[in-house]
Amino acid sequence: MNKKRIMFVFGTRPEAIKMAPVITALAKYPDILEPMIVVSGQHRQMLDQVLRIFNIHPDYDLGIMAKNQTLVDIVTKSLSGLEEIVLREKPDMLLVQGDTSTTFAAGLAAYYYKIPLGHIEAGLRTFDKWRPYPEEINRKLTTSLADIHFAPTETSVANLLAEKVSRNSIYLTGNTVIDALLTTAKGKFDLKQAGINLTAGKKTVLVTTHRRENFGEPLKNICQAIARLAQEHVKTIEIIMPVHKNPLVKETVANILAEVDNVQLTDPLDYEPFVHLMKESYLILTDSGGVQEEAPSLGKPVLVLREKTERPEAVAFGTVKLVGSDEQLIFAEADKLLKDRAAYEKMSQAVNPYGDGQAAGRIVSALLYYFGAVDRKPEEFKVKELVRG
Ligand code: UD1
Ligand code: UDP
Repeated sequence: MNKKRIMFVFGTRPEAIKMAPVITALAKYPDILEPMIVVSGQHRQMLDQVLRIFNIHPDYDLGIMAKNQTLVDIVTKSLSGLEEIVLREKPDMLLVQGDTSTTFAAGLAAYYYKIPLGHIEAGLRTFDKWRPYPEEINRKLTTSLADIHFAPTETSVANLLAEKVSRNSIYLTGNTVIDALLTTAKGKFDLKQAGINLTAGKKTVLVTTHRRENFGEPLKNICQAIARLAQEHVKTIEIIMPVHKNPLVKETVANILAEVDNVQLTDPLDYEPFVHLMKESYLILTDSGGVQEEAPSLGKPVLVLREKTERPEAVAFGTVKLVGSDEQLIFAEADKLLKDRAAYEKMSQAVNPYGDGQAAGRIVSALLYYFGAVDRKPEEFKVKELVRG
């Protein structure tokens, strides 16, 4: 069999974190699978942080990022940049991850040039086209373009089946973010190296936010809730907020929180310190998709700053709660977890609905099966003991 050329295409921080384990797993079959790495550069600094940590060296970098880029900018620049590369390299398969505009544009490029497309983290849905925006539609469009679907959970498999995707083309793998997390969370990391000084005796509350549908009033409300939380618990908590590079996020966050005493605003953290900061945290408030998957596995309660989530599994178990962007509700729920030990204990049991650390291996085994290099499909991911609700 000729070597099969697998083109990975990604562009943002979370895609890179979730692709890294697959790139590593694929390298174990150098005689069968040959990787080629293309980044759109939709994120510049935040992507480069991850490439450095995971030692990934792209073969092509489209370098598309511009300040305050629009969705059309991302899609058109990625698509035209990829056209040339796909035509030159003629890969046997193109792999994308998740729901960003790079993901969708790369899927479209694969379709236009009839390259088989594999979609990692397929089948997540909120069933609301505006929440999250534009990710819900990016995911649905990518599903229609893909030939193989790597679904992380049983729920995501069911969502794909409901859209009449053939079961034979779906592989239930778990989410590769748990592979990345488990490798990175091992051992110790001194947070001082990353400029984070935690005060002994104070509870750490970690906050991240970046969703487009929260821009404007919702983000202001979120920041005001955080300011109130910081002021009312000034002696007992410390809020750390690594602020996303998006200027629209930075501006609102700085306007409301820069002067609040026990709030530390930082640049985005490298993945290793961020994971260790999650481990040290008492409570996490976030609108991130990836953090919603990682925190439950570390036993950290999460209040999700969104109205809807495409990751319902940890909500059903009780580790994650949706609080939206209502200032009073965010404050009240966080305040309760800081004061009421029983409520906190109930939410803080470690649970792993999203993966077992073996997702990347299953994805690579599925590729070997797809190309006929092995004659069995990989064993599917099974959740262990997920009961509460
Ligand atoms: C993007 C994805 C979102 C994903 C998020 C992860 C789309 C439409 N959005 O949203 O799905 O959850 O990444 O973080 O695909 N910027 C920098 N440096 C960086 C990164 C961003 O300066 O390293 C600034 C630039 O001004 C850029 C802006 O942030 O124009 C917005 O970046 P963009 O990728 O368009 O949107 P995100 O909100 O990051
Ligand atoms: N993350 C990081 N540094 C930070 C904040 C987040 O490395 O300062 C990681 C986090 O652990 C998770 C991923 O980035 O794996 C989530 O990215 P983001 O929230 O930007 O995007 P989303 O998951 O919402 O698409």
